[in-house]
Amino acid sequence: MTRQNNEWDQMIDADKRHIWHPYTSAIDAPPVFPVVSAQGVRLELADGRQLIDGMASWWCAIHGYNHPVLNKALCAQTSNMSHVMFGGLTHSPAVELAELLVDLAPNSLNRVFFSDSGSVAVEVALKMAIQYWYSVGQPKKQKLVSLRNGYHGDTFGAMSVCDPETGMHHLFGDVLAKQLFAPAPECGFAEDCDDRHISTMADILLKHHREIAAVIVEPVVQGAGGMRFYSPQYLVKLRALCDSFDVLLIFDEIATGFGRTGKMFALEHAGVIPDILCLGKALTGGYMTLAATLCNDRISSGISQGEPGAFMHGPTFMANPLACAVAKASIELLLCQPWQQTIERLHSELTEGLAPALELPNVVDVRTLGAIGVIELDKPVDMAVVQPMFVERGVWIRPFGKLVYTMPPYIMKTNDVTMLCRAMVNTVAEIAH
Ligand SMILES: Cc1ncc(COP(=O)(O)O)c(C=O)c1O
Repeated sequence: MTRQNNEWDQMIDADKRHIWHPYTSAIDAPPVFPVVSAQGVRLELADGRQLIDGMASWWCAIHGYNHPVLNKALCAQTSNMSHVMFGGLTHSPAVELAELLVDLAPNSLNRVFFSDSGSVAVEVALKMAIQYWYSVGQPKKQKLVSLRNGYHGDTFGAMSVCDPETGMHHLFGDVLAKQLFAPAPECGFAEDCDDRHISTMADILLKHHREIAAVIVEPVVQGAGGMRFYSPQYLVKLRALCDSFDVLLIFDEIATGFGRTGKMFALEHAGVIPDILCLGKALTGGYMTLAATLCNDRISSGISQGEPGAFMHGPTFMANPLACAVAKASIELLLCQPWQQTIERLHSELTEGLAPALELPNVVDVRTLGAIGVIELDKPVDMAVVQPMFVERGVWIRPFGKLVYTMPPYIMKTNDVTMLCRAMVNTVAEIAH
């Protein structure tokens, strides 16, 4: 045990010396917790502690960890073919996954471009939109419109359409393409969306449509930009505006896809079909990094019939067979169970479990949608203080800013949801001023 502890101490020292963790200082990094294994909804730390995982590894691990069905799909594919390039070659994991995605997505979205992460799927979507207009003889249409509080990833194109204040615009200044931003929708999920809620977006489109390639939004749930839920009716109005000004519509469902909001895709709350759809995160059940950008015939034919007659993107690990095989298994696993009921159960358990937080003096809002539960505080949490408190309570919750939230694996049982919610509420109570 002592030797093991020493080994872990050395490991953590080496981590501190050489590794740069996400959104973290290299010289003054807060402690990291070593994980040795993960099973079901639990992470096991090196010191033997088990944590109920409320984050599903940044919202991906919908079936939990070490799932026999996903393990089997991955192992079977490993012994067949781990990777081949996708230029000039194809393989059944990619073809079968593409067929499955096209079947699940709205009818018109019938062309799939695979990439290796959510941010890249967004880059691909933006490039598709801009290249489309170039191909059909409108090369001036290059600008993008997005929403304040939006988050679409950390690469340059994606960053340019993230919220200009909470995103990284001030750091990267002129290097980022200058885009247009409409206010985040003020109409809540269950509220009507009036014309006034979308009037600035309408003004932007009216004024600039000749130079706008596309509007990109996260439908219904703005995730990393604030965990805000908004009225599906906003999307209906947005689609109508895009149609009338001949601007493409991109939905980024990287966070919301595969059931998280109670529908397979959040766009189903509105019955609105975008021209381009980005998927990632839960696509592989959290096993491998993979993303997909789907588009309709208008985009794929437009680009293919224009100059240079090809879509100009091609990642080395495009359609990685291991990732495609496990994604197919993950989607089939979701489809063969009553997942809507599961999300409804999680929704009512999260709603009930987090409700006591509303009584706390440092809480301004508690909200839930599908398998998403959010406690919004009146000021940003001090991560160095709060993170160990969650671990002490036996849960893995990673807040950001003023938000203490959970997006648990769908397989989480009632008892564990109860413990998770209790730990969230009690921790928030403990840091109340
Ligand atoms: C809506 C949305 N788009 C894009 C991304 C970027 O995905 P990735 O981190 O896989 O690059 C994220 C990640 O949180 C996201 O929530």
